Amino acid sequence: MEQRKGRQIVFFPLPLQGHITPMLQLANILYTKGFSITIIHTHFNSPKPSNYPHFTFHSIPDALSESDGLNSDLVAVLYHLNTNLVKPFHDCLARLLSEDHKDPIACLITDAMWQFTQAVANKHNVPRIVLRTTSICSFLAFAALDLLRERGYMPLKDSELETPVPELPPLRVQDLPEIKTSDLEHFYGLLANVIKETKASAGLIWNSYEELEQDALATSRQVFRIPNFVIGPLNMYFPAASSSLLSQDKSCMSWLDKQAPNSVLYVSFGSIAAVSETEFLEIAWGLANSNQPFLWVVRPGLVRGSEWLEPLPSGFMEMLGGRGHIVKWAPQQEVLTHPATGGFWTHCGWNSTLECLCEGVPMICQPSFGDQRVNARYISHVWRVGLHLEYKLERVEIGRAIKRLMAEKEGEEMRNRIRVLREKTNSLLNQTGSSSQSLEKLVTYILSF
Ligand code: UDX
Repeated sequence: MEQRKGRQIVFFPLPLQGHITPMLQLANILYTKGFSITIIHTHFNSPKPSNYPHFTFHSIPDALSESDGLNSDLVAVLYHLNTNLVKPFHDCLARLLSEDHKDPIACLITDAMWQFTQAVANKHNVPRIVLRTTSICSFLAFAALDLLRERGYMPLKDSELETPVPELPPLRVQDLPEIKTSDLEHFYGLLANVIKETKASAGLIWNSYEELEQDALATSRQVFRIPNFVIGPLNMYFPAASSSLLSQDKSCMSWLDKQAPNSVLYVSFGSIAAVSETEFLEIAWGLANSNQPFLWVVRPGLVRGSEWLEPLPSGFMEMLGGRGHIVKWAPQQEVLTHPATGGFWTHCGWNSTLECLCEGVPMICQPSFGDQRVNARYISHVWRVGLHLEYKLERVEIGRAIKRLMAEKEGEEMRNRIRVLREKTNSLLNQTGSSSQSLEKLVTYILSF
């Protein structure tokens, strides 16, 4: 813990699990660097202040009904939040700026997806730094949306999914970061503003590391001509557990203890992705028929139209004779560290991807939407530490993919490659490591305001 710096940083996370976690990890890191920390957050998906007694929390009303919050149309939720929160956020920041008993505010750090916060920051004359919680390569694809639309790649056409996109190698049309929504224009409009306001901000923090995304970083410095700080993986400083919105079921750890080294396939599709009942059953039978031990996170809401496991045939778990274990939410980082875990069937959310890279666990990639598609292409074709389950979710295909990853030479090679990458991540936080040096530059930069 460094000496207190007498300066305050105000954070504003986007209220989604994959965004809250890296923002709170960053807040913890900057707390250890001597800053006092204030978090502005929504009622919807509020973090747990009791897990962070060293921070000050301010909740603002989001005017989101429970059904809005559960809306499967993510773009609609983001649009509502970006519209409803302008005034509450403005007023809250004004109140914080008027508190003279607190450390003076050095800057605001907000999620990139809060498109309105740059204008509020300008109005109050407070520097705003953006935290982008995804990979650099996927944000560059978002930044190219206008060009991709102009050239006819987007909206995606089923007949062109395999077509390469030479403007963004190695992506193909199907890897472009589209999100299913009832209003594509909202999505394009939101993204255009996010990119514009990021360019207008005082700096950009990436939860990634230079050695992984060197080329993308060079391009980012051309596209976003503001200081870029690449300080990740943030999960290496602080685990994700304290920011988990759902409670983690630790029963799976004693189950893992009984499994052979590298034998278990961990399956989780993160906090948002959903599947149809038909897809759910194909996954279940694919896992059952694979004869491989598996730990499966079936989050309530994962299966559209079901509460939890109702679609599973009766007697399914008993039939497995202990070879499979299902939980609603797992202590994921602990699972990935466990010696029994040999592979991760993932939706390729960026936090899950980074956690895998840090623990050396190879992946089966089944992206659902947005940045996950870009990440999947990089995992399978650039870093070559996972295989892409590209076509229809079907039990025979699933069984084949599991065998390739867990039992064949191809999977072994991926495991070896990701372990080499894991070794590289170990030195990132050393005094001379690229992430730790970039973090020091960030601290100096914030103190210069
Ligand atoms: C969202 C988007 O979907 C994703 O595309 C984007 O990259 C980040 O924001 P999410 O789908 O939740 O994220 O996935 P991910 O980024 O992987 O984050 C999930 C987090 O939840 C991870 O930190 C993981 O450790 C944690 N988790 C997941 C658990 O603690 N338990 C679980 O059972 C599953």
